Formats: sequence, C-alpha cells, structure tokens
Amino acid sequence: MSTYLPPTRNHSPYLPFGDQRGAPFYGKDILSVKQFSKSDLDYIFGVAHEMSEMVSRVGTFDLLKGKILANLFYEPSTRTSSSFTSAMERLGGSVIPINEVRYSSVSKGESLADTVRTLECYADVIVLRHPEVGASAQAARYARKPIINAGDGVGEHPTQALLDLFTIVEELNQVDGLTVTLLGDLKYGRTVHSLARLLSLYNVRINYISPDILRMPAEIVAELDEKGIPQAAYNTLDEVLPETDVLYVTRVQKERFEDLNEYEQVRGAYVISAETLLAARERMIVMHPLPRVGEISMDVDEDPRAAYFRQMEYGLYVRMALLAMVLGKA
Ligand code: CP
Repeated sequence: MSTYLPPTRNHSPYLPFGDQRGAPFYGKDILSVKQFSKSDLDYIFGVAHEMSEMVSRVGTFDLLKGKILANLFYEPSTRTSSSFTSAMERLGGSVIPINEVRYSSVSKGESLADTVRTLECYADVIVLRHPEVGASAQAARYARKPIINAGDGVGEHPTQALLDLFTIVEELNQVDGLTVTLLGDLKYGRTVHSLARLLSLYNVRINYISPDILRMPAEIVAELDEKGIPQAAYNTLDEVLPETDVLYVTRVQKERFEDLNEYEQVRGAYVISAETLLAARERMIVMHPLPRVGEISMDVDEDPRAAYFRQMEYGLYVRMALLAMVLGKA
C-alpha cells in the first residue's frame, strides 16, 4: 500500500516533516530591518516565542540537525556571536567559528567576497559582522547561501533590533501607544538606527536624547517623519522620563571616533542610576544592547524595570527563529 500523501499548503511530500521550504524567509538574507513588514514581525516573534518554550521544556532539539553555521566576525562580539552559536547548537546544528579574522586567510589579504564564497562551501548559512556599512549586502551579492547581518559598521544591526522589539513585546505586551526614549550615542549606534526604523511600523512616539555631536542621523529622522512618527530631540532626560515606557540606553561608541578628544567630551554624558529611576513609571523598562561602560550604574540591576539582562536571553530565541526560518524549518 502506498504511503504517499498529497501535498498540503505547508508541506511538500518530498521533504521531511517540518521542512517548509515555501515558508517566508527560506533561503533569504537578513540584511536590514527595512525588509520586514509588520506581519513578518508577528511571524518571527511567534516562532521566537515557541523557541523559548522549547528551550525551557527540552533545552536542545534537532530541528537543524546536520546544518552548519559559519560565524564570521571582523569586529569584536560577545552576545551576537555566542547567541548565534548557542542558537545553532540548541537546534542541533553546528558552527564554524571565525571570531578572530586575523587568524584566518583574511590576514593574508583575502577579500570579503572570496571569504564568503569559501565559507559557503562548508556551511548552510553565514552570520557576518563587519566594520563597513553595506558589507553584508556586498557579501550577499556573492553568496548563494543566506547571509545574516550581525552589524555593519555604523549601519544596521537588524537581528539586534528584532530582539529589542521582541523584548518590548514580551515585557510590555504591546508596541502601539508606547513612548520610546533612545539615549546616548545615536549617531554611531547601529542598534538604535535599526530599532528606530522597526518602531516606525507601529504607532509610537520616539524621543532622542544625546549630546549635540551624537544626534540621530538626519536621514533616519526624515524616514520616520515620512511615516508620520512623532519624534523630538532633547539634551537631557528629565524632560521626558516621566512619560517614557521604554528607555533604551546606548554606549558612546569610542571605536567610531576619529578624534578621541571629541570622545572625551561626550563620554559619561549620561548615567542612569537607581536615583534617576525615581522619576520613571512603574511599568517602564530599561533596555541596553550591551556592553555597557558606565552609562547604567550597577545599582539599577536589581530594579525589576532593568530588562537588559532578560533582553540578551530574548536574543537567543529570536536568533533560533531566524536560523530555522532561513533554513526552511520554521
Ligand atoms: N549587542 C551586541 O551586539 O553585543 P556584542 O557586540 O557583544 O555582540
């Protein structure tokens, strides 16, 4: 007797159960938050939520057994690199780690294009962090396998923005109607560039708090203006803290300054302490992409509103979801 089953909308008869190659994002690059619609976000967050439940129930499972991730980092990373490694391993796959490109053939002068062409011979997906804006898009032009942008210079950090938004959804159960205050280095901080763009898909109000020389780039403000997002820039937090639902703090990115004297003028411009939070809402959350270097003092850590450590864990689930999706298994 034949065991053949006719194709269904979600499953091909030629692929094992769970293999949904017609699914959104199968084989796709993740390069910029501009590629996502609101319904894409609902889908990603639904999968990420399921991943969190699976991890708490069984820890590790074999959804991506046999699949290999190449983690290619031209810039330092703790969270992004190790959470992608953990995500792949929790899904039963394995990882080629290239966290120190100076020990790879990059140090012999190999181009990004050739490095990517090499790694895709051995891996099914490549996660790339690079100091140049547009490097991931450039890599994607040469690669046949999916490229996931893990930060391209001062450009974007789309998987961070996805995990940031997932954090807001999980912690506050809404995005529409919120006032989000972005504070710190808004010029060089790629996480706030991506997050502001993602937030513009919702009905939010955005405040920018930064020193004058570190303001949000005009092109991003203009993009959000076109979408009708209310935005306002301030130099101090006091004016907007009482009305803030999400306080997103960033580090001043020393490594991006050409003139270190300029860095010295703005380092330590803002420090969030337990005392600062006395003026904040009970239901507000404090976020930070981390690492922090003094802009949130440690006396905030025990406050239930401090969401930045939980934020890192949400990142694992979002990255598990993304890997499963681009490899056709979610
Ligand atoms: N948030 C973030 O990108 O951290 P890492 O630089 O440690 O990856």
